[in-house]
Amino acid sequence: MTDTLVIYYSYTGNSKKVALYAKDKLNADILELEPKIPFSDDYDKVVEEWQNNDIKRDVEIKEIDKDLSQYKKIVLITCTWWYGISPVMKKFLKDYDLSNKDIIVASSNAGWVGHCFRDYKMLLPNSNIKGELDLLFSANDGERDKMLTSLGEVDSWIEKL
Ligand SMILES: Cc1cc2nc3c(=O)[nH]c(=O)nc-3n(C[C@H](O)[C@H](O)[C@H](O)COP(=O)(O)O)c2cc1C
Repeated sequence: MTDTLVIYYSYTGNSKKVALYAKDKLNADILELEPKIPFSDDYDKVVEEWQNNDIKRDVEIKEIDKDLSQYKKIVLITCTWWYGISPVMKKFLKDYDLSNKDIIVASSNAGWVGHCFRDYKMLLPNSNIKGELDLLFSANDGERDKMLTSLGEVDSWIEKL
């Protein structure tokens, strides 16, 4: 049984790809976070709707099916929404206790990672954050799924756990 869990939220699939990669590298379990009510498939509409991604504004999320007390090491990966971590990841960190666990965090973004790492720190006051990854993807229409961060950088980040 593994003591490592990869937890992610991904709207368009970029964070998911890296979550699956980290899962394989670490022989970890994996948990996908999901909003109770799915966001629209219309990307531009979601971008517009979440312009005010305030730390206090979040969404209801589906109940998780993992016992977190079983894991000592946690990998957190989310997309960046309006300079902050996604509301789904925020809600998860508000609802569940990851105190005293070793954690590495990543925020996938298109060049404007903003205050994501401050968000993580604020919502994980009693955890041991051992590594941060600014996970950069293209900002160009039609190639938003192109990863610009090298796999070497991802590997070095994973090794910090
Ligand atoms: C609502 C919304 C807001 C976004 N805000 C930002 C942002 O502030 N900074 C940024 O660099 N990218 C922003 N993006 C782009 C995504 O963070 C980026 O494409 C990321 O890689 C997507 O990850 P995912 O495929 O796991 O959802 C935003 C995308 C959406 C849908």
